[in-house]
Amino acid sequence: MEGMSRRRFLGAAGSVTVSAAMLGGPGRMVVAEAAAPGGLTVDGDRFLLDGKPFQIISGGIHYFRIHPDLWRDRLNRMRMLGLNTVETYVAWNFHEQERGEVDFSGWRDFVRFIEIAGELGLKVVFRPGPYVCAEWEFGGFPAWLLENPDQALRSSDPTYLEAVDTWFAQLLPRVAPLQATRGGPVIAVQVENEYGSYGNDTAYLQHLADQLRANDIDSLLFCCNGASEAALRDGNLPGTLATVNFAGDPTGPFETLRKYQPEGPLWCTEYWDGWFDHWGEQHHTTDPAQDAANVDKMLAAGASINLYMAAGSTNFEWWSGANYDEATKQYQPTITSYDYDAPVSEAGDLTEKFHKIREVIGRYTTLPDEPLPEPPARLAPQSARPTASVGLLDSLDRLTKPVTRDTPVPMEQVGQAQGLIHYRTSVQGPLGKNTLTISQLGDRAWVFLDGERKGELDRNQPDQGVEIEVTGESARLDILVGTGGRINFGHFINDTKGIRGDVRLGGQLLSGWEIRPLPMNDLSGLRFSEPGASGPAFHRATLRIDAPADGFLELPGWNKGALWLNGFLLGRYWHIGPQRTLYAPAPLWREGDNELIALELNQPGESIELRAEPDLG
Ligand code: GLA
Repeated sequence: MEGMSRRRFLGAAGSVTVSAAMLGGPGRMVVAEAAAPGGLTVDGDRFLLDGKPFQIISGGIHYFRIHPDLWRDRLNRMRMLGLNTVETYVAWNFHEQERGEVDFSGWRDFVRFIEIAGELGLKVVFRPGPYVCAEWEFGGFPAWLLENPDQALRSSDPTYLEAVDTWFAQLLPRVAPLQATRGGPVIAVQVENEYGSYGNDTAYLQHLADQLRANDIDSLLFCCNGASEAALRDGNLPGTLATVNFAGDPTGPFETLRKYQPEGPLWCTEYWDGWFDHWGEQHHTTDPAQDAANVDKMLAAGASINLYMAAGSTNFEWWSGANYDEATKQYQPTITSYDYDAPVSEAGDLTEKFHKIREVIGRYTTLPDEPLPEPPARLAPQSARPTASVGLLDSLDRLTKPVTRDTPVPMEQVGQAQGLIHYRTSVQGPLGKNTLTISQLGDRAWVFLDGERKGELDRNQPDQGVEIEVTGESARLDILVGTGGRINFGHFINDTKGIRGDVRLGGQLLSGWEIRPLPMNDLSGLRFSEPGASGPAFHRATLRIDAPADGFLELPGWNKGALWLNGFLLGRYWHIGPQRTLYAPAPLWREGDNELIALELNQPGESIELRAEPDLG
């Protein structure tokens, strides 16, 4: 705090300046400069855009969590909320799941997303990370960064920086032409994400800022942090605007920011108007009236805002993240829905919170003079019974090829990013009852001896074991490992999946493994037969519909697994909730027959239910 509070924004139009002499450096330093006249600049305590005063009234939306056919719809609903700006992260792993294979097409065409925002008259706040947190798998980092599980991420480690620089060199040239400094919608760019709550390697932050500049990002740069003194001290850089993230009353957080940064516009870059859920915990909601009152306070103070989130969305496929509670040492996987109790719901509904916040925003700006969009069309409820099934252990050869290793290794060591992974070895007999244990498991294992299920192990109960007895000369040991998302926050983000430690039987290390990666990105090789397979198995059902619309799929009586619609993985389900239905947006359905495949790891229910309303618990 000391020293940093001496930072001053001198407020010349077109640039923010800080006296480097006051910071102990030589001469005078110009910071947060907007190179071209069109950009967002700082003028005393306010922003200017194109030279005119501008209050950023923004909301968060993640293109990677919304089907691209619905981008325009959701962005438009945000515009109708009264926002003049939208904010998005970039999820690196969504674009570069395999090292060197970068994808900016289709759902990954974030340039198109920004262009659509621009077409709707919205400005864009761009948050390229490379670490983004966001309850997204591994905070946006690609799994291949874990090939060396001990690498120091979010630091000046040269191997890490080289990977980041290579990525930025591909990402940033695509966004540079979209900046407001060149007539585009992008007005501000974030450096890292809440870095102050992680570490104090400011050389790392500076490296990122330098990379942004070197790749033609000439927009206003900002660092956002929680409103604590340590976070503001170590999560900021001279030359960037400091902003704060918080929930609740803005008075305290803005005072803390002011102590650190006595001048400059106040900006709450994440006002948490909702929250996310973990499996097995209560569904989170916030009070719409209270949120509206806090937004009112911020806007009345002339502050800029970003509602995190303004549009709810979904952790489709395997993309949800997880937390790790250091106090209880518990891994806490995040659910599939990212509805977040946001003003625009996961399914595009305009909620009570939408109307309350809109009414407040309307006091400070002119709302679009148009009728509000209709709720998205919904499919009529119906029920589908599985008509075919096949066991997962019987399908291994149709899904993948084995690699052999002396000891078990996590999936990142066999080039796999996500999904499940299978380990097989044989155990010599005869052998009386012994306990099988797995160390450093990510995240849950199902153990079988000669195809018979012996038990289940979970990373949150590391002392657990499974009793095994071999009566014949040898037995086949199968261990199927299922995953929750990779940890996206805190100091345990190096979260490898599968088995990182060892497998012991009665204390003796088991060696000689066949390892089968099961990313499950293509189920077309499965050979289904009669319904009713037990154990981990795929169950297929058909739903016939007249015309695509949004639906919500519930699996009553089912236990834990994942659900595909027409080959697209809608996400994980789990009977412990709080989420009961999975969102299945209109673009994934087709007229006529639609194929559902559930991978149920424990016990299937009787039917899959199509509902017209979500149930998030
Ligand atoms: C922080 C992060 C966000 C998100 C929120 C919680 O503010 O910056 O990415 O994780 O927490 O939803």
